[in-house]
Amino acid sequence: MAARNVPSQETMRSALALACRAPSVHNSQPWKWKLAERTVHLYLDRSRLLGVLDPCGRELVISCGAALNHARIAFAAEGWQTTVHRLPNPAQPDHLASLEFARLDEVDEHVVTLAAAAAARRCDRRPFLTDPVPRAVLVPLREVARLEGCTLTFAVGDRERRELELAIEHAGSEQRQRPEYREELAAWAGRHASPEGVPVRSIPAEHLRGMPERDFALVAEGELPVPILDDGAVLAVLSTRGDSYESWLAAGEALSAVLLTATEHGLATCPLSQISEGAASRNQVREEILGGTGFPQLAIRIGWPVTHEFPGPLTPRRPVSDVVEPLFPQD
Ligand SMILES: Cc1cc2nc3c(=O)[nH]c(=O)nc-3n(C[C@H](O)[C@H](O)[C@H](O)COP(=O)(O)O)c2cc1C
Repeated sequence: MAARNVPSQETMRSALALACRAPSVHNSQPWKWKLAERTVHLYLDRSRLLGVLDPCGRELVISCGAALNHARIAFAAEGWQTTVHRLPNPAQPDHLASLEFARLDEVDEHVVTLAAAAAARRCDRRPFLTDPVPRAVLVPLREVARLEGCTLTFAVGDRERRELELAIEHAGSEQRQRPEYREELAAWAGRHASPEGVPVRSIPAEHLRGMPERDFALVAEGELPVPILDDGAVLAVLSTRGDSYESWLAAGEALSAVLLTATEHGLATCPLSQISEGAASRNQVREEILGGTGFPQLAIRIGWPVTHEFPGPLTPRRPVSDVVEPLFPQD
């Protein structure tokens, strides 16, 4: 029998299961995958919108971009090169991407490593070791972001670091004062046995003094044991040239590439998006960290994880059957 020139439906579903390991804001998993015989289509699921935190859906699109990058890696690891058409239909902006396939002659070992990183990665909200993260490890992270058309800027100087921490802190304290923010956070964080949202076992059991983080303790008591450590995280800002759907999708693809490359190097990571959820913090980061250019999309904490109880729990996902459906229902 001739070799297939498109992945089987079974391969599509297994690659998409890995794609769904992508990070998403509040673990909202705002994606819908539609399968045709020869193509796969990614849609934004607007029913997952966080109306207070993210009224225009920017972080939802970033989350879908991360899933798209995961999907490209997952298919490549199964021997399929993808050609991605981003935002293929201007009349349907929530149709984020169409994927076409070509058989690869051989599977690149590096892609297999990245696919393993996608399966193993999880956000780590604990302090990181103070051991320095060498430049040789940070440079590839900047490079993979650049390849996705985005910029990763490390806040390495004392002044930049302080400014970024202040921006995160200011954004957090403004959000804390809004009852509607707390209500929305409570609806998504502090879950025990739910396939979506941020579970208690991924939230630190103790509030971490001075560490930049989203304050989930506002609404939920965390269960993740936290070692007493000075946090040695490197902080970085992921930014884009524009601030359109295209830019947000690219930011998500870059976020995924950065997190998986970091995971591959044994680093722990956590995205922090408060800096772009309020105009004042976003401007502050643009002026103080990015030299007045570009649009900050989110910050990322990066560092060496504590070995104590590493790696922490994997976060649950919705069943693949909830997020994958035929493009044409009669298929
Ligand atoms: C756009 C975006 C914004 C996020 N913002 C934050 C944040 O501010 N604080 C945080 O702790 N995690 C943040 N996360 C991480 C998600 O909470 C996390 O990906 C989700 O809970 C799934 O968990 P996992 O990444 O461990 O699989 C963000 C992720 C994305 C994609």
